[in-house]
Amino acid sequence: MMSDVKLVEFPKILDARGNLSFIENGDHVPFKIRRVYWIYDVPGGVHRGAHAYRENQELVVALSGSFDVVVDDGKEQKSFHLNRSYYGLYLPKYTWRVMENFSTNSLALVLSSTDYDTDDYIFDYEQFKKEVMQ
Ligand code: TYD
Repeated sequence: MMSDVKLVEFPKILDARGNLSFIENGDHVPFKIRRVYWIYDVPGGVHRGAHAYRENQELVVALSGSFDVVVDDGKEQKSFHLNRSYYGLYLPKYTWRVMENFSTNSLALVLSSTDYDTDDYIFDYEQFKKEVMQ
């Protein structure tokens, strides 16, 4: 549901030597972190992640640079511009998401609640709508 999609602010330790943020299991993420992956060297103009998961929940962080995450719960669409490393976007299961407008040298960190499982993906938007309406 769209109201469950939310921006999470991580702790920020400001320091003249450079800032530091952190994420702890259970505290700043509304699920137990099972897997971490990152997306980098993204060429201009491409989009990624046009799909939803049936079980997997994710938290997306723009560790460097910026990009947009367009989310869709089957009823409404919303776009989030991520450009700070101390914010994460929480995506519950059954959230259709497209990542786009990656800036040069952007780095997307993704925390996941499940192991990688291709059967958990919904790649077809009509199929997503069908399942999410049930
Ligand atoms: P995919 O999730 O489709 O990426 P995107 O949504 O950004 O387009 O994954 C791309 C490829 O990487 C696909 O072949 C599966 C593989 N992959 C893994 O092997 N393990 C993982 O944890 C992830 C996220 C992807």
